[in-house]
Amino acid sequence: MRDQAEKLRMKMLESEGALGKSIAVVSGKGGVGKSNFTMNFATLLAKEGKRVVILDMDIGMGNIHILIGKSVQYSLKDYLEGNLTITEVMYEGPNDLHYISGGSGMGSLLDWSGNTFDLLIEAFEHLQKSFDYILFDMGAGATNWSLELLVSVDEIIVISTAEPTAIMDAYSMMKYINLKDSQKTFYLLCNRAFTVEEGRETVNRLHSAMNKFLKKECVILGSLPEDPIVRKAVREQVPFTISYPDAPITKTMRQIVQRFIHHREDEVHAPIESKNFLSKLKSIFSKGRD
Ligand SMILES: Nc1ncnc2c1ncn2[C@@H]1O[C@H](COP(=O)(O)OP(=O)(O)O)[C@@H](O)[C@H]1O
Ligand SMILES: [Mg+2]
Repeated sequence: MRDQAEKLRMKMLESEGALGKSIAVVSGKGGVGKSNFTMNFATLLAKEGKRVVILDMDIGMGNIHILIGKSVQYSLKDYLEGNLTITEVMYEGPNDLHYISGGSGMGSLLDWSGNTFDLLIEAFEHLQKSFDYILFDMGAGATNWSLELLVSVDEIIVISTAEPTAIMDAYSMMKYINLKDSQKTFYLLCNRAFTVEEGRETVNRLHSAMNKFLKKECVILGSLPEDPIVRKAVREQVPFTISYPDAPITKTMRQIVQRFIHHREDEVHAPIESKNFLSKLKSIFSKGRD
């Protein structure tokens, strides 16, 4: 497991530059809105002309395809079990957005003990050549392999609601990842905020905990309001950013996407020597361990 995870990390480190970025959408607590955020965020990124693929990592309980009203024959599980190629399990959604379903109906649990992680690496190698963003919609619970995956990706979007338990769990998750990779970029987002103040306080609390206890700077994306439109869009099986283009929550989502894209552009122009240096160091270390 450890060696495989190192290989995945190296692959993802190599992706810095022209190849696609890997971004995981995570939360401590479940049900905070990761899947709905991922789908709408990806839809808008794709509308901006970015090549985007979503990997639904909620294997056996995936809902990314359900959010856009599609039934899928194959899922990531079929690929990871070695039955199909990664392109055979990939589907096309709105705005030329691509997605790989986590599959539904539970089925048998996926066994990660064999070459499953290697297959994930291979898939990643293939996807990073064809897409600008590879978004991992993480499932519920922190399993061994999902934590390894989180340590390996380039960037993490952390979603929390304003509830103290959600904030605490989000912090614990970031603390764990930061311990394994202190260079990781974290984006913070509050979802289901009842007031602007509540949203601001939530992301600020997370940010100041990261600053104070871990000396870590994060990028605050902002907050999305509690809005019945989200539930409505889930029932209608069309992302709200498509069916309700003028709704306030869609406008906020658009601003969040802009902030995400422009932060990246800022970063590209900033001196990044220390990051490159560390990346090199890391690959030397992981080579030593292989
Ligand atoms: N901003 C929001 N306002 C209202 N309801 C929301 C919002 N975001 C998510 N929800 C609702 O919360 C529930 C969980 O969302 P989901 O995206 O499936 O969360 P997760 O993927 O984190 O488990 C869904 O019923 C969804 O409709
Ligand atoms: Mg989900």
